[in-house]
Amino acid sequence: MIAMRALVNRGLSSPWGKPVWFILSCLPFLWLVFAALTDRLGANPAEALVRSTGDWTLRALCLVLAITPLRTVLCLTALARLRRMAGLFVYFYVVLHLLAYAWFDMGFEVADIARDIAKRPFILVGFSAFVLLTPLALTSFNRAIKALGGKRWQAMHRLVYAVAGLALLHFFWMRAGKNNFAEVAVYALILGILLGWRVQRRWSGAWRNYFGAAAVGGVGR
Ligand code: HEM
Repeated sequence: MIAMRALVNRGLSSPWGKPVWFILSCLPFLWLVFAALTDRLGANPAEALVRSTGDWTLRALCLVLAITPLRTVLCLTALARLRRMAGLFVYFYVVLHLLAYAWFDMGFEVADIARDIAKRPFILVGFSAFVLLTPLALTSFNRAIKALGGKRWQAMHRLVYAVAGLALLHFFWMRAGKNNFAEVAVYALILGILLGWRVQRRWSGAWRNYFGAAAVGGVGR
């Protein structure tokens, strides 16, 4: 196990770690382009493109939220190097998803898009998630982190938890119309575990600090 962990850490922090992660993250996009060009998207290619870019946005979001738990629990410290790129890929796939919707469903008619966002709650929720992701993508660079200051940057990037909640609600609402919740339940479980892990860590940290302080106080007295 230790040898395996060392191997993975060495691989991730090698000069190949980032390029390999980049190529792996591009594969869904490259597959969709290939499938579109070779007529492999099924009977309704437009719908397939909107849906699969939505699926990949949600998967990329789960992956980003899994980095810190995996890094901590499995001691895969080198994963930290890939977090920014993983986050930017969430944005890349949501932009593709939004573009696919704006193009195939709405013919790039801005007024129709605005009306649709106001009319259909699941679109409004998805769009809100996109809006919240935008400042996170724009401030993912070192210069922005410096300009904002570490604490403010960290507080702002907690918006990703709201994005996860909105993304799940968007998916749930969309599938509610079809009474098909199996996949939604799987993503809810994954996101629940990833967010629950953080809450549990915060709570145990707070309790440790409280009792630690009490113990220190006791010794002092
Ligand atoms: C973080 C943001 C978002 C995530 C994670 C997300 C995710 C998803 C997912 C998982 C699906 C279902 C795919 C399936 O059925 O397999 C979906 C469908 C869809 N999403 Fe999003 N989405 C997001 C933002 C948006 C935005 C900004 C819009 C448009 C303004 C949008 C419009 C749609 C539409 C039109 C569908 C397809 C509905 C249908 O075919 O009936 N989404 N999205």
